[in-house]
Amino acid sequence: MNIAVLGAQWGDEGKGKIVDLLTPHFRLVARYQGGHNAGHTVYVEGRKFVLHLIPSGILHAGVRCLIGNGVVIDPEALFREIDELASLGIDVGDRLVISDKAHLILPYHRELDVLSEARRGERKIGTTSRGIGPAYEDKIGRRGIRVCDLVDTPELAEAVRENVHARNQIIRDTRMEWQAVYDQLLAHGDRMRRWTADVSLLLDEAVRRGDRVLIEGAQGTMLDIDHGTYPYVTSSNASIGGACTGLGLPPQAIHGVLGVAKAYLTRVGEGPLPTELHGAIGERLRETGQEYGASTGRPRRCGWFDAVAVRYAVRVNGINALALTKMDVLDGLPSVDICTGYRVDGRTLDALPADARTLAACTPIYETWPGWSTPTRGVTRFEDLPVEARRYIARLEEVTGVPMAVISTGSDRAETIIRRDTIAGRWFS
Ligand code: IMP
Repeated sequence: MNIAVLGAQWGDEGKGKIVDLLTPHFRLVARYQGGHNAGHTVYVEGRKFVLHLIPSGILHAGVRCLIGNGVVIDPEALFREIDELASLGIDVGDRLVISDKAHLILPYHRELDVLSEARRGERKIGTTSRGIGPAYEDKIGRRGIRVCDLVDTPELAEAVRENVHARNQIIRDTRMEWQAVYDQLLAHGDRMRRWTADVSLLLDEAVRRGDRVLIEGAQGTMLDIDHGTYPYVTSSNASIGGACTGLGLPPQAIHGVLGVAKAYLTRVGEGPLPTELHGAIGERLRETGQEYGASTGRPRRCGWFDAVAVRYAVRVNGINALALTKMDVLDGLPSVDICTGYRVDGRTLDALPADARTLAACTPIYETWPGWSTPTRGVTRFEDLPVEARRYIARLEEVTGVPMAVISTGSDRAETIIRRDTIAGRWFS
């Protein structure tokens, strides 16, 4: 069984922990999109690991970690991460594999990202300033530079010269020298070569052998370039289609999809968020849930669970079951709300509208459920949860249409309920 784990909200759902829990049952972990805009935080025996590019499977000895062609790679960020892991005693060795077709983030992409945000002013996206959007623009514009291009050839020299020239036309107050960028790229290529391979082929061989593959998404469905809250999205397909195109893996090779959603929700960056809480409860969720970006440190916007959005993610991705994370953050609240629909212009919507303007005008329709005073923190058996928490989860299952196969009750691996009687429960063994 090959399983995909992806975000059912606006990213930061806690995918890192879920992938980490599943990894012992898989031989390969493959990442299909995004770049070092992602931040996957994993706690192991009290130690905190934040991974941006390399799949968190790297923390497990013997697991191969693949970075697919759909990922955009900033070589400096990649090497930083490899070196950091080494300093923590984790040698990536030959367990890391990088697609030769992956596109690169170059220094001018970072500059262009910052500039584009400044130019948008009030309409800014609130990007992570990592150069993600401009790198994908070059990819789609067919002028991108890929991992396989990093050899001393006239073609690479020409591509770098043209791209740097284009950058110099846009950013006129500083000049970038193409030769310096070129030399650095060649050096990066030399270091990257030992990890470079045809990821699609490698996956095909693994699947034929029966080696289990865990597919890891970054960001979330609501940030998907096609299905998210455009234009307030990232520049890749975070939803399931991205797994096929971003790895060169056919859909038949994916046997199940586990969505990850927080028991409430968060968003970092700009864009509509109907259930956003601006007052004391939002503040409490942020502080209790330590809702600050793993990559940028920005405070995350917090709100109630939006079943319209999650239901949409279930449909778009064919999610079989959900992992519900950060349940313990709701401990002690007198009541908890669930948004089951939107109201806009006198109409009721139970599906996400296409345009951000309509979504911004939507008012949530809430159900209010009793909170629980007995903590859920650290609970490992479903029946040990307070009855109100179980009722809340049961209602989430009804309004999203899928079972909650995993409930995370704390940041450590051990603080987890796995419901083996659900469809996804057996994926954990
Ligand atoms: P970009 O991916 O840096 O272009 O940012 C586009 C949008 O996606 C912004 O709202 C970011 O805050 C958001 N974003 C990008 N990566 C992540 C992530 O890993 N978690 C949550 N939000 C993200």
